[in-house]
Amino acid sequence: MKISLLGGTGSFAEGLAIRWAKAGHEILIGSRKIEKAKEEVGKMLETAKAQGIEANIVGYENAEAAKNSEVVVVCLPPEYTKSTLESMSASFVNQLVISPVVPMSFGAVVSYNPPEAGSAAIEIQNTLPDSVNVVSAYHNIPAKGLASFEKPLDYDVIICGDNDEAKALTTKLTEEMPSLKAIDAGPLEISSMIEAITPLIINLNKKHKHEFSIKFI
Ligand SMILES: NC(=O)c1ccc[n+]([C@@H]2O[C@H](COP(=O)([O-])OP(=O)(O)OC[C@H]3O[C@@H](n4cnc5c(N)ncnc54)[C@H](OP(=O)(O)O)[C@@H]3O)[C@@H](O)[C@H]2O)c1
Repeated sequence: MKISLLGGTGSFAEGLAIRWAKAGHEILIGSRKIEKAKEEVGKMLETAKAQGIEANIVGYENAEAAKNSEVVVVCLPPEYTKSTLESMSASFVNQLVISPVVPMSFGAVVSYNPPEAGSAAIEIQNTLPDSVNVVSAYHNIPAKGLASFEKPLDYDVIICGDNDEAKALTTKLTEEMPSLKAIDAGPLEISSMIEAITPLIINLNKKHKHEFSIKFI
């Protein structure tokens, strides 16, 4: 499939891009600047090659990346997600849009700081055309873990969304990355609860100087 990662030059996109390229997908890295996208793609291709992966990864501006893909992963900073998607809404028709976006505020403790819509995922669904199906996923996996290719990904991925086909595709894409397991939590309304787990994990990591992750048993 053609999978684009908007804001794909940031730390979160790298692991997803290389792992999905390994599974045979065509990856489109989006950026505000095509030169930056191409530069980041060069680094990803080097990393993939070192892992023995023949990767098909190409750099684009965000709008072109979304327009040319069937699946769009929003890897944008929470505070710029709505404005960025609004500015490129003409690029969206019928795609599966995956949101790992976690709105947080940083003080003595890290807090969940959702937008007025209630969660980042609902804000994204409200911003994009009705033909798009938003699924929440990957909030609770650290970028560093995704980009550590020597260890299996021993995480559970809680997903939610309002369209069963979109969730089935998200589950398939998730489980193509060994050894992630997707767990469907229900409608998109659940997303605030999933997003809020991430600041909890960060507070735990800070307090215990450990890298916690989640698994449901
Ligand atoms: N990092 C993690 O461990 C982690 C874990 C779970 C979920 N997430 C979520 O994943 C998403 C991406 O995280 P990240 O750490 O990769 O983010 P990031 O590095 O802060 O930003 C990603 C990309 O967003 C673009 N960007 C920066 N400022 C922008 C602006 N004003 N307008 C539009 N685009 C802008 C930049 O790309 P260009 O300059 O190339 O446009 C940047 O490389 C976030 O929503 C985060 O909550 C992250």
